[in-house]
Amino acid sequence: MLSACKDATTNGTPTGTSSGTPSAGGGEAGLECPEGGVLHGPWAMRFNETSVRVRWDACAPSSTEIVVEPENGGEPATHVGEQSAADVKTSYDVINGVPPDVPGIRYRTEVAVDGLQPGTCYRYQLAADSARRGRFCTAKPAGAPFKFFAVGDTNPSVGDTTGVLDHMPSDVDFTIHLGDIQYYASVFESWATWFPKMQPLLRQGAFQPSIGNHEYEIDFEFQDYYERLFGGAGFDSSAVEWYRFQSGGVWFFSLSTEADLDAGSDQANWLEAQLADAAGQPGYRFSVVYFHKPMMTLSEYTQKKGERLHFDPIFRQHGVRLIMCGHVHGYERFVDGELTYIVSGGGGAALHDLNVTAEERPEEASKRVASSSTYHGTVIEVLSDAIHGSAIGHDGRILDEFTVDLSSGAGGGSN
Ligand SMILES: [Fe+2]
Repeated sequence: MLSACKDATTNGTPTGTSSGTPSAGGGEAGLECPEGGVLHGPWAMRFNETSVRVRWDACAPSSTEIVVEPENGGEPATHVGEQSAADVKTSYDVINGVPPDVPGIRYRTEVAVDGLQPGTCYRYQLAADSARRGRFCTAKPAGAPFKFFAVGDTNPSVGDTTGVLDHMPSDVDFTIHLGDIQYYASVFESWATWFPKMQPLLRQGAFQPSIGNHEYEIDFEFQDYYERLFGGAGFDSSAVEWYRFQSGGVWFFSLSTEADLDAGSDQANWLEAQLADAAGQPGYRFSVVYFHKPMMTLSEYTQKKGERLHFDPIFRQHGVRLIMCGHVHGYERFVDGELTYIVSGGGGAALHDLNVTAEERPEEASKRVASSSTYHGTVIEVLSDAIHGSAIGHDGRILDEFTVDLSSGAGGGSN
């Protein structure tokens, strides 16, 4: 049930430990603040073997309690979080009938859930609104199999993101987002429309994003939405633009192609040092590097070829096996010896022609083994001796399926 929040002033500082009846109100004129105060979310992020952060955005000081219980049975436990008030300035109210993004005081709510069991999936529910719930998995022990979902360029108000999410497996541990999370540029979309449509993905497992060019579309958007809500999704980084995390001895590196990635840049130096560090960790298997703009594509879009040539020997030296990106709205897979490059930007933004530069990029053309200009997401299963990938179309059709052999250091993908 929704109740309009008429009071344009805040109801004071959030307590951070509220556990009583949520207080409605405290929202902004023009904002529909749900009873219970939960505006967007929840979702999980920043997971390791024993902890995770659960977040949501609130439009009023409200309960920060969640109840967490193991998916396969076990005792529920209550965890209490904190709310951080922020003066959100982003304003988007363009089309009649499209819910606007309204400026005002918002309360990012974060629950640090600690003391969890490794390799275990949990379900959680918000005390402020029992209909708001989700799932997360802690990091798997080194060597254990797991599954994750990759999607990019999600524009649910335009393309068939709903179909993509309908065919997302229900047992993935987490999602990596390949950037361009929401598109004001499509006019009909706001964060107010994006969150409800993306909730099937957000509730399925931790959400580990990377930054695309559409995260900066209008004034204040990056700070108010990406940085405030999705910043700090991983570890071992003081920058909001890049971070790393691991599960099962597989290390993931989320980068920003909107920041400098040239040799010698802060981000490149960080990546090189962290890849080397990961490769020396006990139980290390391989690494996945992901970001938004492609290093290889046969679409019309510019390739980050200089960065690819710089990182190629570094990737091979430290056991990177998958490089994933978005930006190009479709699916492409390239095999370059031990390295598999995947473009998976089919999350709902208008589809692209994937063959425009095939003639002028013969090296890349010789390495491309699959492509499809179709809305889709990519499921990656990490097995004991192989990586198995499948690109699943919005209609459930398998667009591509591949295996990367991990039993030896060399060898590429095969169909
Ligand atoms: Fe993009």
